[in-house]
Amino acid sequence: PAPGWSIDADVVVVGSGVAGLTAALRCEAAGLRTVVVTKARLDDGSTRWAQGGIAAALGEGDTPGQHLDDTLVAGAGLCDEEAVRILVTEGPDAVRRLIATGARFDESADGGLALTREGGHHRRRIAHAGGDATGAEISRALVDAVRARGLRTIENALVLDLLTDAGGRTAGVTLHVMGEGRHDGVGAVHAPAVVLATGGMGQVFSATTNPAVSTGDGVALALRAGAEISDLEFVQFHPTVLFLGPDAEGQQPLVSEAVRGEGAHLVDADGVRFMQGQHELAELAPRDIVAKGIMRRMQEQGAEHMYLDARHFGAEMWEHRFPTILAACRAHGIDPVTEPVPVAPAAHYASGGVRTDSHGRTTVPGLYACGEVACTGVHGANRLASNSLLEGLVYAERIAADIAAARADGALPAREPHPIASPGQPEHPLLAPEARLTIQRIMTEGAGVLRSAASLARAADRLRQLHTEAREALADDGKTAEPGVDTWEATNLLCVARVLVAAAALREETRGCHWREDHPDRDDTRWRRHIAVTLDPDRT
Ligand code: SIN
Repeated sequence: PAPGWSIDADVVVVGSGVAGLTAALRCEAAGLRTVVVTKARLDDGSTRWAQGGIAAALGEGDTPGQHLDDTLVAGAGLCDEEAVRILVTEGPDAVRRLIATGARFDESADGGLALTREGGHHRRRIAHAGGDATGAEISRALVDAVRARGLRTIENALVLDLLTDAGGRTAGVTLHVMGEGRHDGVGAVHAPAVVLATGGMGQVFSATTNPAVSTGDGVALALRAGAEISDLEFVQFHPTVLFLGPDAEGQQPLVSEAVRGEGAHLVDADGVRFMQGQHELAELAPRDIVAKGIMRRMQEQGAEHMYLDARHFGAEMWEHRFPTILAACRAHGIDPVTEPVPVAPAAHYASGGVRTDSHGRTTVPGLYACGEVACTGVHGANRLASNSLLEGLVYAERIAADIAAARADGALPAREPHPIASPGQPEHPLLAPEARLTIQRIMTEGAGVLRSAASLARAADRLRQLHTEAREALADDGKTAEPGVDTWEATNLLCVARVLVAAAALREETRGCHWREDHPDRDDTRWRRHIAVTLDPDRT
């Protein structure tokens, strides 16, 4: 549909998690006319669900170099070392600036930052807030700052597509806005710089720690705009998600790695600690190794889940250190103070996404990406725990600096948007909202924790079928699903699911969080490289 209204800005930031709001605040501080658009409310999205914390070399004796080493090991040979070096060296000051913006972190008895450990970290370097409510505190502080500084925001605004000028440079975005007064229905923000900070795509699977809004919108937009996408096969499954039954669907409660960081044990139904002997760090091995350890034990024993045992913390520690997790467990009838908590892996984080350089620039001029939607190269084949909030902070700041520099150089002129192909047109049929559940089940069956050529081929066929049906309905009788948030989301989920499955089928090895039953070994000769995808914007 053609935009019914438009507004002009220097920068439009799409998304309102740690990455989006940091980028917006820094752009505004640099004097850029900045508009934030977000699909739901400003504090919806993944950031506010983050529990464990934010990793940075802030502790005594810790160094960015040690943080770098741990990140590279977790990334299983596919990190971009320079991108990681930027992350770990700029990280500590970025956290200090976040504190200056208003975020309040937990303190130790001596008044310094309280730091914990998580999987893959050889040091205590995870700063946390409210015990296990770090993301909620970061979100609160950033939303407060955005409101205090009067930044222009549009909520309930689902981004549809990138606008470009005749030369293929970014000229803004189209949006579908629901119930926001003057800017309602389909409209556009015209801007020569667009920052994608739309978060992840966990909703492509049935059970995920991600909220309902994490539907891969940014990656789908970038694909349709012809930007390069990379590493989509590396979906991180968090090892310890509260197990609510084999058919549980949608967002599931996380049980933070920090619980293991403080000494909880993973045990099977007989109470045996099965991670000991599998890795020098046992329960605190990198996340992919722990997730695999749990899955293997589940397979050996025909079990649906394992247990996390932290009864030895006692009631007081549970209440003070992990109040969010304690409440979530109790809401589901489990009391971690007196019984082990049933846990199983669930989809958690997209290590891949829209490929960027070290300034957050994508391959489309004027289009930037940061946070989970981006693939900066810092995560490689498996993200190190609590590096994601840090990545959002550090790279958002770099993007704001790059846009401000472009503006100072006179390289941010307003551009005349050029019409673009968009969902709802013949090449991109919109899917009915019900397709979402079908896609999630196909993906969980065929492209979940454990994959094979056969399971991926089945998934690819079924996803293709969904696309063909929608296309045929449009071609035969001009019918397409009614445009709306549900239909756009289902359409975006299908788009990212198809690319994810194709990349996972191509990568015939097991590396990081990509686990192939039929190719169980890491193959550095063939596969120490990235799978990058660019779609021709004029085809599906
Ligand atoms: C957690 O608290 O376990 C999540 C940390 C992360 O995903 O980095």
